[in-house]
Amino acid sequence: MAHDLFERRVFFVVGKGGVGKSTVAALLAVAVAERGKRVLLAQMGPGRRLAEVLGVDGGSEAPAEVFPGLCFLTIDGETALGEYLGLVLAVKRVHRLVVGSKLYHHFVAAAPGLKELMTVGKIWYEEQLESGRGRKWDAIVVDAPATGHSLQYLRMPAAAYEAFGAGLVRREARRVLDLLEDPGRTAVCPVTTAEEMPVNETTEMYTQLRERLRMPLGVLFVNRVHAAPLAPEAVPAAPAGASSLVVDVLRCGREEAGWSAINAHYLARLRANVPMPTVELPFLFSEEFGLSEVRRLLGHAERQLATLPAAGAP
Ligand SMILES: Nc1ncnc2c1ncn2[C@@H]1O[C@H](COP(=O)(O)OP(=O)(O)O)[C@@H](O)[C@H]1O
Ligand SMILES: [Mg+2]
Repeated sequence: MAHDLFERRVFFVVGKGGVGKSTVAALLAVAVAERGKRVLLAQMGPGRRLAEVLGVDGGSEAPAEVFPGLCFLTIDGETALGEYLGLVLAVKRVHRLVVGSKLYHHFVAAAPGLKELMTVGKIWYEEQLESGRGRKWDAIVVDAPATGHSLQYLRMPAAAYEAFGAGLVRREARRVLDLLEDPGRTAVCPVTTAEEMPVNETTEMYTQLRERLRMPLGVLFVNRVHAAPLAPEAVPAAPAGASSLVVDVLRCGREEAGWSAINAHYLARLRANVPMPTVELPFLFSEEFGLSEVRRLLGHAERQLATLPAAGAP
């Protein structure tokens, strides 16, 4: 049976810096949009690359349309808090006074975890937004920051829930937690490459996600996989007097075969340590990286997703 990944509504794409989180977040958002759904691709925190890949302005004020069905938004904790206070402090003048004050900026900068809490709160808010005939977004794909920082974000609602007594903050935190922990709505999708450090970090994160955060898992993406048909030692040495072109081609072949061997080794380790449905994405030799490269990777992902067992199936 095909994996039911796309029945979820909120996808958190997490992983070590540089492994391809933004690329996979874009891939998932395009996959959802191609299913005829309205999807918000939300980037947690700063960064320009995803907006560049999508070819949009990465503003944090309002979602920017990438193409009909897919919008992009950068979520910034301070902006989200200002918006939230706008909802709570119904009197506009009071809201302007608070958000415009110096003290407020100091408070937001200094309060531990506040920006993180508001960022995750904003995702919750967008998830339940109604527009006309139903939900505003059929799905939200979240491009999370590097592992340690994303775990900080994802831990904040539980921390706030535990830290505050009965009242507004505790109630709001409970609603966000209900979303984060709901296997019917949420899926965490880790991204890694098949190399030593990222695989170690992914193994550690997998344990944290299951045991501490208790968040529902989706699919693991292994990005930039090299798959050469030859072992490194099977690539012949250049014959004496060979042209520099032949020497270079053989050197590249040996390098590629070397990477393939490393990837195969760490893929096996991943399979043993992180027992999740897995999609492998090939290394693309491409100067530019834009939506068309994302779509190429999506083609590879779709073929594999169609053969994965449904979540919860043995
Ligand atoms: N499958 C791939 N093949 C080749 N290059 C890739 C692939 N996926 C990502 N990249 C490149 O790797 C770099 C990091 O990707 P990115 O998605 O920005 O990672 P992250 O968001 O985890 O920091 C980018 O320069 C991107 O173009
Ligand atoms: Mg990124």
